[in-house]
Amino acid sequence: MAIAEPEGEAPDTPILGSARLRLRPLVAGDADALHPAYADAELMRWWNHAPHADLAETRAWFAEEDEEGWRHWAITLTGDDSAIGFVAVNEKRRHVSEIGYLLARPHWGRGIAEEALTCVLDQLFLAENYRRVFADTDPDNVYSRRLLERLGFRLEGVLRAEWETHIGVRDTTLYGLLKEDWTCRPRRA
Ligand SMILES: CC(C)(COP(=O)(O)OP(=O)(O)OC[C@H]1O[C@@H](n2cnc3c(N)ncnc32)[C@H](O)[C@@H]1OP(=O)(O)O)[C@@H](O)C(=O)NCCC(=O)NCCS
Repeated sequence: MAIAEPEGEAPDTPILGSARLRLRPLVAGDADALHPAYADAELMRWWNHAPHADLAETRAWFAEEDEEGWRHWAITLTGDDSAIGFVAVNEKRRHVSEIGYLLARPHWGRGIAEEALTCVLDQLFLAENYRRVFADTDPDNVYSRRLLERLGFRLEGVLRAEWETHIGVRDTTLYGLLKEDWTCRPRRA
């Protein structure tokens, strides 16, 4: 897990905002608010590790050093600083980034993940001039695939037996979005 420096000292993770949301750097102190999501077996089914058994495990996870260069934004509702999820990005090659995301289950089905990813994609494509963002997701992770497709990501292929996770050896669907796809995308009013 990647943890940003205290808020205001992470210039590569600027505060982002939308009608309903404020995205700020994720910090170790967000572990408590996000623990219910990390302990949620249905949600973690699609994650790369088993649900956490207790809060101590989530706190330890958040305290780990990130050695892979992920930037994490906490998703918060405007006017309430508690994290309800996060969006994470990792520059794999110059101007090419992977993206990952998680939203606590009480907030599903309201377009919050779409709104949060829109903020981060605007940041990557419009402010930072990325040319490509990609995500991989389990073929059976219907909500995640719908979210990517609503955002304009294109299915680029299926990687067979790509991951071995707590639910077994799994294929993965690879989705990609280019800057030109993003800038030409019709926006919600
Ligand atoms: C993937 C995940 C973030 C998707 O969450 P979500 O709530 O389905 O996504 P959104 O916030 O964009 O909400 C979309 C739903 O809200 C509805 N919605 C309501 N108001 C909306 C609005 N203003 N804008 C967009 N969608 C809206 C949409 O119709 C859609 O429902 P539908 O799919 O039944 O049509 C969530 O399921 C999750 O955290 N899963 C576990 C972690 C995970 O799998 N991460 C990805 C690993 S690769």
